[in-house]
Amino acid sequence: MNEILKELSLIGLIPVTTVEKSDDAVEISRTLAENGISCIEITLRTEAGLDSIKSIAENCPGVVVGAGTVLTVQQVEQVMERGAKFIVSPGLNPDVVSYCIDNDILVIPGVATPSDIEKALSLGIDTVKLFPAEALGGVKYLKAVVAPYQNILKLVPTGGLNTQNYLEYLNIPQVIACGGSWLTPSDAIKEKNYHKMANLANMAIKQILGFKLHHVGLNHASEESAKKASDFFASLFDFAVHDGTGSFMLASQFEFMKSKFAGDNGHIAIGTNSIPRAVYYLNKKGIQIVPDKQIVKNGKLISVYLDMSISGFAVHLVQN
Ligand code: 3PG
Repeated sequence: MNEILKELSLIGLIPVTTVEKSDDAVEISRTLAENGISCIEITLRTEAGLDSIKSIAENCPGVVVGAGTVLTVQQVEQVMERGAKFIVSPGLNPDVVSYCIDNDILVIPGVATPSDIEKALSLGIDTVKLFPAEALGGVKYLKAVVAPYQNILKLVPTGGLNTQNYLEYLNIPQVIACGGSWLTPSDAIKEKNYHKMANLANMAIKQILGFKLHHVGLNHASEESAKKASDFFASLFDFAVHDGTGSFMLASQFEFMKSKFAGDNGHIAIGTNSIPRAVYYLNKKGIQIVPDKQIVKNGKLISVYLDMSISGFAVHLVQN
């Protein structure tokens, strides 16, 4: 997958933003990035669009800035000169798409029908924006339209998405990110209400990552001592015990290790809705993963250890 597209899919959201002033665009981008969304699509629907892209590219390192509502090849040239990293269009313009492909530029053209999708595929595109997603019929329409192209198409639904419905889209395997203006609403932009945008971004990222305590692992020097402690603990609280290979698991939440495992005292497992997205998010906070301690099952990352410890406990992520 294209590196920029990979980053957009790790963020999972593409705020579509229309501004009247380029200074506002920089402030908005910073607010979003500070709250976990380090990308933005600036539409070319206002005169400030081009300058905004340039200002973000120059002043917001680490933010992936793209151009939206790109209708012509000339606009592609203009936004690329100003530092855009990707192009989004409401529809599928073969000239724009071909130009982008020829120049190795990530383009996400809009599609609404199977014919549009096949046109995109024939031009060499495998990631499209379903637009306007809600008006077309929402999640039900998306599932129906993607069915014949299950393994060859990825989607970025946009148009009518909001706090209430975007997760339903994002849970569909072919959907790599959701786009929309709900994260940077026009009233908040007008009122310079960055607090509101920060809250919206924060809430969305929280929902996407879905961090929660999964289980706690407690180290023991031997199987015998793990058994003694776990039997006692289980009897106190009437927890069910599962005798596993390396541990006794109580109530699926307390793991008594049969030997000293990761961490001085043990480990804390944090559940997340998406390990790759959680790793990307934590990397931005300076936390790396332990490279040789990843567990992959059926091609899917199901556990990673973080290169950190807290109060004598190692920390790992598991799939919710
Ligand atoms: C776009 O350009 O992608 C759409 O206008 C965004 O749609 P929304 O405002 O309904 O989110």
